[in-house]
Amino acid sequence: MNFNTQLQRKLFATVILNVFIAFVIIPFIGYSQQSIKPKPGRLAAIAHFPIGSAVGMRWLERDSVMVSLLKSDFNSITAENCMKPALIHPEQNRFNWTDADKLAEFCEKYNFRLHGHTLIWHSQVPEWMEKFQGDSTAFEAVFKDHIQTVISRYKEQTKSWDVVNEAIADNNGKWRKTFWLERLGKDYIARAFRYAREAAPAVKLFYNDYSLESDSLKRKLALKMVDSFRKQGVPIDGIGLQMHIRVDHPSLKEIEETFTKFAQTGLLIHISELDISFNEFKKEPRFKAFTPEMADRQKQRYEDVVSAYNRIIPKNQQYGITIWGFADKYNWIRPFFKQPDWPVVYDDSLQRKPAWYGFSNGLTK
Ligand code: XIL
Repeated sequence: MNFNTQLQRKLFATVILNVFIAFVIIPFIGYSQQSIKPKPGRLAAIAHFPIGSAVGMRWLERDSVMVSLLKSDFNSITAENCMKPALIHPEQNRFNWTDADKLAEFCEKYNFRLHGHTLIWHSQVPEWMEKFQGDSTAFEAVFKDHIQTVISRYKEQTKSWDVVNEAIADNNGKWRKTFWLERLGKDYIARAFRYAREAAPAVKLFYNDYSLESDSLKRKLALKMVDSFRKQGVPIDGIGLQMHIRVDHPSLKEIEETFTKFAQTGLLIHISELDISFNEFKKEPRFKAFTPEMADRQKQRYEDVVSAYNRIIPKNQQYGITIWGFADKYNWIRPFFKQPDWPVVYDDSLQRKPAWYGFSNGLTK
């Protein structure tokens, strides 16, 4: 091609440049914008399974900032306290539905899945129940009535319940010696599940416990229980691994093995009360202030746990991950053990911590 004038050369160069911009640069920018598009700012939108928070009515009613973050980040709620026996059934002939009703309404209105917690437990029970005078037939009636009255009241609103909580003792692989066990015999657990199913057939029924990821004897008995439930036709749908863990304990390997073993039961698996703390419970606290190094360590730990759950638990068994307490200032560890800690993904000022980003990274790995 001959260009006779400088003008022709300039025109040709302009055409080539335009073609280059139109067919190469613009599509490239379009593509790269697509690939760096920020992830939606919601854990629940990133996850393939529900993301839960345990909340108390007190905070729901008083903290509007928390409520708006809750609505934008989460899509499942566990009743932190208001559905426990001591609160919902304060006297033998009186149930107190006020807070549980409000929570159920809140969940219905804003489309949260509601997980009930908990029907049978040795802690947070009313005195009248624990000290009940009467023979075993009368006590069995109390037990059955409590389970069936509570679960059937919310059978439309709660998709699932922790039917029995923490029935296994620590570090010895035996049943915990509770007043339930002592008065009703060890089959009380199986009967609790049968009563629950009878009253609310569509509700998913869970056994929930802590340290299943670190106490191998506890884990063994829980797995044995599931197996014998299978053989006897006891209705159980899921396992709740509470997972109140620490940044350095147990090892990721043990957590992964736990996920694998429980996944093999074929049941739904709920990480039901996740928090990752620094100080050991009931020990002199080693950590007194939260440093950036600690925040990074916690971020990595959240990422590891969430990604292990994401990878190891088959999709159809992923019931979700629930964080226990919305923010560090609302988490139970400080008031319960009276020691400092920073266990969850929002801080005391309701800001996202590095842990939040660790959690969200884990959801995509
Ligand atoms: C805790 C609540 O978060 C506290 O507000 C309450 O004072 C005590 O109980 N395992 C469970 C939960 O199953 O019910 C506990 O919740 C935390 C440990």
